[in-house]
Amino acid sequence: MSSTPTALPLVHLSTAGVSIVLDATDGRIPAVLHWGRALGPLSAGDAAALSLLTVPSVPTNAMDDPLRVGLLPQLGDGWLGTPGLVGSREDGSGFAPRLAVRSVTVEGESVTGDPAADELVEAGAARVVFELADEELGLGARLVVELLASGIVRARAHVTNTGADAYTVESLTVALPVPLEADEVLDFAGRWGKERTPQRTRLTVGTHLRENRRGRTGADSAYLLHVGRPGFDFRAGEVWAVHTAFSGNHRHLAERSSLGAQILGGGELLLPHEGRLAAGETYQGPWVYGAYSPAGLDPIAQAFHRTLRARPGHVDTARPVTLNVWEAVYFDHDLARLTDLADIAAHLGVERYVLDDGWFGSRRDDFSGLGDWEVSPDVWPHGLTPLVDHVTGLGMQFGLWFEPEMVSADSDVARAHPEWIMAPSADRLPRESRHQQVLNLSIPEAWQHVHDQMHAILSAYDIAYIKWDHNRDLIESATRATGAAATHAQTLATYRLMDTLKAEHPGLEIESCASGGARVDLEVLDHSDRVWVSDCIDPLERQQMNRWTAQLIPLELMGSHIASGRSHTTTRLHSLAFRAATALFGHLGIEWDLTQASETELTELSRWIALYKEQRELLFTGDLVRDGEVDDALWLTGVVAGDRSRALYEVACVTSSDLAVVGRIRFPGLDPERRYRIEPVVIGDPARVHESPAWSAGEAITRGIEASGAILTQVGFAAPQMSPESSRVYALTAIDR
Ligand code: DGJ
Repeated sequence: MSSTPTALPLVHLSTAGVSIVLDATDGRIPAVLHWGRALGPLSAGDAAALSLLTVPSVPTNAMDDPLRVGLLPQLGDGWLGTPGLVGSREDGSGFAPRLAVRSVTVEGESVTGDPAADELVEAGAARVVFELADEELGLGARLVVELLASGIVRARAHVTNTGADAYTVESLTVALPVPLEADEVLDFAGRWGKERTPQRTRLTVGTHLRENRRGRTGADSAYLLHVGRPGFDFRAGEVWAVHTAFSGNHRHLAERSSLGAQILGGGELLLPHEGRLAAGETYQGPWVYGAYSPAGLDPIAQAFHRTLRARPGHVDTARPVTLNVWEAVYFDHDLARLTDLADIAAHLGVERYVLDDGWFGSRRDDFSGLGDWEVSPDVWPHGLTPLVDHVTGLGMQFGLWFEPEMVSADSDVARAHPEWIMAPSADRLPRESRHQQVLNLSIPEAWQHVHDQMHAILSAYDIAYIKWDHNRDLIESATRATGAAATHAQTLATYRLMDTLKAEHPGLEIESCASGGARVDLEVLDHSDRVWVSDCIDPLERQQMNRWTAQLIPLELMGSHIASGRSHTTTRLHSLAFRAATALFGHLGIEWDLTQASETELTELSRWIALYKEQRELLFTGDLVRDGEVDDALWLTGVVAGDRSRALYEVACVTSSDLAVVGRIRFPGLDPERRYRIEPVVIGDPARVHESPAWSAGEAITRGIEASGAILTQVGFAAPQMSPESSRVYALTAIDR
């Protein structure tokens, strides 16, 4: 039996303005002594001081030892809030583990066991691995804590049953401590067509718990749960945030304990028995990401963007302009019409063409065909070749829609293998949603069937891109033969299917779509290449959805389309300028029956596409800045190049203001020392664009105006009078003399 090592140092990781100090010096489960603003290099004396200064006092009528809130908080350490590990053996024993440290490595190097070792390990961005055990209860655990170069912290835990009989993990929650002053919560709600709606509340004693039982990330997922000093906004106020990277059932929580401690936490939400471990088995929880900012929400978004952009497989900046035909033709697949659309698209400068739902099996509407991934001879008598060849012949990539985890009752696969449909029993099917059921990919034969059919299609045609949809929640999602819950296994099987197809088809990109934006999280983005933000393409709604989706993921991963003038979801009518300027700050696409567009519209559209191509490198490498201060009616979204040499801003008027003139617009993020030329982007009728005196004076409208970064950031310029649901775009370039 191993025992607590004799020497355990304090570990201080620090980079990008953030420090995290991990303390396992007494051999107990590691606790975070500080997570927040960088502390600068620490000495051994500082380490000793930190350990002393952070010991909480012992209040009357509490445990005699000071409270310790570990990264997996434990009852035995005095934590009476949500425990890190909840689980037990069949006889009820083992529910109160006392996991203790057995070894620690930093970047793979052991830092334990040497009594002469320093009391402090200092590192920058690094990975720390704690091996833990409670031998008496037959449990082992591993806790991985990583500070990424972006300043984002991520942690994940796994538990191994080292005992002789089964142990069931009910939940595994990683917790990060945050100061009590951070008592305002900002997280997200939403629904189909209106994903990631921000909501604020006060954190009082108790748990702000966001649980998801949809079996997919959810349109209403908490997404990124922030706590901060009251009133924090895009650029002010200390803020901490947590994100659970998992596309199945999951939890986010902020908890304030009357003991005087506060945590942010996350983990998977396991259904009964999903965490059952036979002897020797391991359950691994998802990555839980943490972000800290001393100055509001923009630095948090920027740190997440840097994290994603630093991944080896991250997409390049030349995100192809995409045409998706869904809102143009829906299920009405007609080769002549689809090739017409391709011709117009290619002419406009579109680079990727995506054929959506309706090309396979009996799928002529949304009542049948899911699960039969073979080209329908009824609508495609010559296969997809005529369309694929036409599209690729025009120089565009071809993309295709699938919904791999789903099955229609009216499908060949459901008739042949009813046992593959997720259901709590042989006789009881879940209620349908969008007239469909879920195919159980945790059954190896079902996974193989879907894989083989998809692989065959991807091998037969030149397909660069899959739109991977998921149009219903998983309810009563069990393996039909046993009745046992299978959401956890389904989620992992989906990731494996994505990875396998990508490995077999190098260069293949996958879009994560789920009834719009119901599967947006950092784990699915480790297996895919962009998300579809929402089925609602109304630009007014998208202003809000894109702005908050970008709180976690960078613009190049957000599918952002220009739809027809009248929105198919809200029926509102918007100008092309507003639709295009809104879509510009994302991975641009078009979802509009272009055969119905006028010549003027097509000309204007081609100019927006050209602008996107000119600006996409900036958009997909720069820092996102936002503002909503200029009267609540005007929202500013901007991207500033890392070297501050360029920037692109959009000012959107999202509602009519009570004020006749709404003051000045300030451009955040510029270098105060440099001079910039600010030029309005004029596409369409210039007369519509500039009402501000500055822009109507002389040649300013074409030449632009020059001013220092300090003036543009601090003083700003008089806002134009804007009609509701319109926007202006400004390009700024540093003038290096
Ligand atoms: C839901 C998606 O979000 C839409 O874009 C479209 O692909 C439909 N499904 C197709 O059924």
